[in-house]
Amino acid sequence: MRWKTARSKSRLLAITGLMGIVLWAGAGQAKEGKVPVILSLVPYYHWIAETKTPLDQFTFLVNGIRMTGKTGAAEKYQNSLHVHFHLTRIKHTMIEIKEGEHTVFKADVFYAPSFVPNKFIPEAAVIQPFHTVDNERPCLGCHRLTVTPEDSSPADITKEVCYPCHHLDYEGKKYPHAPAALSWSCPQCHISEPVKQNYKDKHPLRFTIKVGSDAQPVCYDCHVALKRRNLGYAYIHGPVDMGACTICHNPHAADRPHLLQDDITTLCVNCHGLHAMMKKKVVHPIIKKAGCTACHDSHGSPNPKQLIKPLYELCISCHKKLAKRRNNHPVAGHPTYIKAAVAGAKDKINCVSCHNPHASDYPEMLPAGELMQVCTHCHPTKGR
Ligand code: HEC
Ligand code: HEC
Ligand code: HEC
Ligand code: HEC
Ligand code: HEC
Ligand code: HEC
Ligand code: HEC
Ligand code: HEC
Ligand code: HEC
Ligand code: HEC
Repeated sequence: MRWKTARSKSRLLAITGLMGIVLWAGAGQAKEGKVPVILSLVPYYHWIAETKTPLDQFTFLVNGIRMTGKTGAAEKYQNSLHVHFHLTRIKHTMIEIKEGEHTVFKADVFYAPSFVPNKFIPEAAVIQPFHTVDNERPCLGCHRLTVTPEDSSPADITKEVCYPCHHLDYEGKKYPHAPAALSWSCPQCHISEPVKQNYKDKHPLRFTIKVGSDAQPVCYDCHVALKRRNLGYAYIHGPVDMGACTICHNPHAADRPHLLQDDITTLCVNCHGLHAMMKKKVVHPIIKKAGCTACHDSHGSPNPKQLIKPLYELCISCHKKLAKRRNNHPVAGHPTYIKAAVAGAKDKINCVSCHNPHASDYPEMLPAGELMQVCTHCHPTKGR
């Protein structure tokens, strides 16, 4: 499982993957002929620098084309030039800043949110976090960066410490998460003291994520009933057990109900590498209609494979005819369900003994096209 590799884990758990801004002559500056590839976990990239040069002497290029309102915006606050570039998901965005004819900054920024599997991310891409004490220093003249107790439940959100710099991040999202994009209680989940990271960069990072009580995800500190339910399941889903809630949920705001990061079936298929399965000739029609969660619970369940019901009951809950036919499927007298423990039975059997629950290259999701071959799978000669 790809997500278990060390690289992806640190990307997930370290708060991770954010890019940062690059100060005037700072690190990440384009070297002759070599454009740095920067990995961003957020759909924008800020470039902020001190300069006396007027705004109209600069040119901002996005993929070689002059920046428009759709691709970004530039603003000068006294001597501070603020450029905000929009990025496209799982795509490269080449950004370039020219002062007159001279290129002062050039970078290839790749935006991939934290739930995107590593195989989609270019090898060369590096993360450049912003919130180190050194990076923040030039901003302090105009921006507050010390967290006060009021910031945990601000009366006026526009006065909250993070708001002036981060309010564009969540604007226009349909579903705000209450403590984040709604009430701006950012320090409920983010720590203000610098914390050492396992990035190449040795500077401790500020605003990393708190660990919740009992070393569980911070999410459970508020979602207490859910914590009890999830941790009580006999079969808990891998990423839920790892506390990787943000692979599926955006902690701030999203365009999908339940703050889902993406179409849930896409998330499942990507992580489990099931793209080939989805391209087979016969895909269980219910997958297209209702997705993976028609049968699996995303968090966990009392049943193996996180099935929402015990296997046989699950299948016949939709295929009610089969329940009426009882043991007369696919041929008269044939059992469709034998528990392993039933006395006298040579073998256990259930619906997935013959049908793949997801897909196959043959009608009815059977393992072979010839009916005879289906039978000889278990009966070396026809019948028994
Ligand atoms: C000369 C004063 C000044 C300095 C220095 C300054 N900023 Fe700003 N910044 C502003 C003002 C004013 C705004 C607009 C605030 C508002 O809309 O409430 C702003 C807005 C922003 C925004 C919101 C997006 C945008 O482009 O409007 C970000 C992000 C930001 N600043 C980051 C920084 C960072 C990072 C630094 C330090 C590298 C910095 N600023 C230094 C004055 C400054
Ligand atoms: C002075 C402006 C400013 C303020 C204030 C600010 N941020 Fe940021 N933050 C940035 C910039 C710039 C980035 C880099 C991403 C980008 O390009 O916008 C960033 C990135 C981050 C990241 C990603 C990790 C990193 O270090 O790059 C986190 C997490 C974060 N901010 C949290 C917060 C929280 C929480 C607050 C309030 C407690 C806050 N920020 C206040 C400007 C600011
Ligand atoms: C419910 C907890 C929670 C709250 C409240 C919260 N955050 Fe976060 N934030 C997180 C988590 C968890 C991550 C790491 C996301 C990941 O790994 O994908 C994160 C990551 C970030 C990042 C990095 C980019 C990204 O989206 O992954 C920024 C910037 C950020 N938070 C800013 C804020 C600001 C500003 C607020 C207040 C409006 C805030 N956060 C409130 C939990 C929270
Ligand atoms: C500070 C308290 C707090 C924390 C921490 C918190 N949440 Fe929430 N969350 C809320 C509140 C309040 C609501 C809105 C009320 C509700 O639907 O339960 C909410 C709603 C949600 C919803 C939507 C519920 C639905 O029925 O659609 C999801 C999903 C969610 N939170 C996930 C998370 C995740 C993931 C984390 C950790 C990154 C987290 N929450 C951390 C307070 C919190
Ligand atoms: C594999 C994807 C996935 C992961 C990982 C995941 N969730 Fe969910 N979660 C979902 C889906 C999908 C729903 C929508 C309800 C449903 O279909 O079961 C949901 C619903 C929710 C809800 C609202 C409804 C409810 O059951 O209360 C909350 C809150 C929530 N999740 C929190 C979390 C927390 C906290 C974590 C981490 C411990 C987490 N989720 C991990 C996919 C996921
Ligand atoms: C972060 C990537 C990730 C996502 C997204 C994800 N899973 Fe998983 N899933 C895992 C991991 C890790 C395991 C544990 C597998 C293991 O231990 O080998 C697992 C286990 C499972 C199992 C049990 C497998 C077994 O052999 O017991 C099922 C079923 C499953 N996932 C279905 C789903 C469904 C359905 C979705 C979408 C709602 C989904 N997964 C989304 C990573 C993911
Ligand atoms: C019609 C119900 C149903 C739907 C819909 C469904 N599954 Fe399953 N899935 C099952 C059953 C039943 C099993 C257990 C098979 C077994 O025990 O041999 C299973 C097993 C799994 C496993 C464990 C490994 C394996 O292949 O046996 C994974 C992972 C999985 N499903 C992922 C998914 C994903 C991802 C989707 C959506 C694309 C999905 N499932 C949709 C019924 C379903
Ligand atoms: C949530 C409802 C649902 C569940 C649960 C479900 N199915 Fe289905 N299944 C359907 C639908 C809808 C079709 C489309 C044909 C139809 O209406 O019967 C279908 C079709 C099939 C077909 C015929 C495929 C074809 O070629 O048209 C088979 C075989 C099948 N299901 C087996 C199973 C098995 C085995 C299980 C248990 C692992 C199961 N189903 C669980 C809804 C479901
Ligand atoms: C011993 C193997 C076997 C078992 C066990 C089995 N099936 Fe089938 N099933 C078949 C075969 C073979 C066909 C195709 C029949 C044909 O083409 O005449 C089929 C056809 C189907 C169909 C499509 C036609 C129809 O009759 O509606 C559905 C739906 C179906 N099975 C569901 C199930 C469910 C649900 C279970 C568990 C209760 C199950 N099957 C158990 C072998 C099996
Ligand atoms: C997944 C394995 C499996 C497949 C595939 C399978 N069977 Fe069976 N079959 C069994 C089991 C198990 C029994 C019950 C034997 C017992 O009770 O010990 C059985 C019993 C039978 C019986 C005897 C019923 C009776 O009255 O005792 C017949 C006839 C039969 N199968 C025909 C078929 C035919 C025809 C096919 C192909 C359409 C087929 N089987 C496919 C496992 C299978």
